[in-house]
Amino acid sequence: MGRQFFVGGNFKMNGSIKSVTEIIDNLNKAKLDENAEVVIAPPSLYLLLAREHLRKGIEVAAQNVFDKPNGAFTGEISAQQLKESGITWTLIGHSERRVILQEDDAFVASKTKAAIDGGLGVILCCGESLEQREAGKTIEVVTTQLKAVADKVKDWSKIVIAYEPIWAIGTGKVATTEQAQEVHAAIREWLKKDVSSEAADKTRILYGGSVTEKNSPELAKQADIDGFLVGGASLKPAFIDIINSNSA
Ligand code: 13P
Repeated sequence: MGRQFFVGGNFKMNGSIKSVTEIIDNLNKAKLDENAEVVIAPPSLYLLLAREHLRKGIEVAAQNVFDKPNGAFTGEISAQQLKESGITWTLIGHSERRVILQEDDAFVASKTKAAIDGGLGVILCCGESLEQREAGKTIEVVTTQLKAVADKVKDWSKIVIAYEPIWAIGTGKVATTEQAQEVHAAIREWLKKDVSSEAADKTRILYGGSVTEKNSPELAKQADIDGFLVGGASLKPAFIDIINSNSA
């Protein structure tokens, strides 16, 4: 009945062989909440290193995937290639890709479909800018981003949603528990209306944006917050406390 707590670590374009290995060693010897599902997303160069060194039970995610299985697509990686390499998850639609690399909703949806069809789990990111929030458009923006995916993907059992307000990412300005819970509840309402009541009950909705070991226990208590997608703090030992924050 309950949704399993989920914590993802998005390393973004950070780390080196040495530092990624240290983070993995730390995770391998840490005492982690057995009820938490943990996935780390290092840069693609370190995916295999991570998979080879990480203990069983912690999964590895790509930060991006392409929407074709193979072919002349320079610089891209397919779901099939990831799956074959033991990489079982991918992030899709992170705001840094939407904004900096100009990925639109249709491309995000197409990649999500390809990833699911290729057998991967997807951490599907959404979130509004400060301007959109101030214009009262948060729920509209987020549900429009998600609807593009719902138009192409009917089975949401392998999708985890990450709500990451852009103004909270890397800024130290975390959403208040009320702000986060309000959007998470609205996303769940939307799932019920536009996908299915089963998807509304079962889909994990993560919060991301300046999550630390200090703010995570309070956020984790909210009814519709089922875990976190952690950026900066996933590179630090405090990531372990965030993983354990649901049992704190
Ligand atoms: P920070 O935790 O560094 O704010 O990043 C959040 C994020 O973008 C995770 O995907």
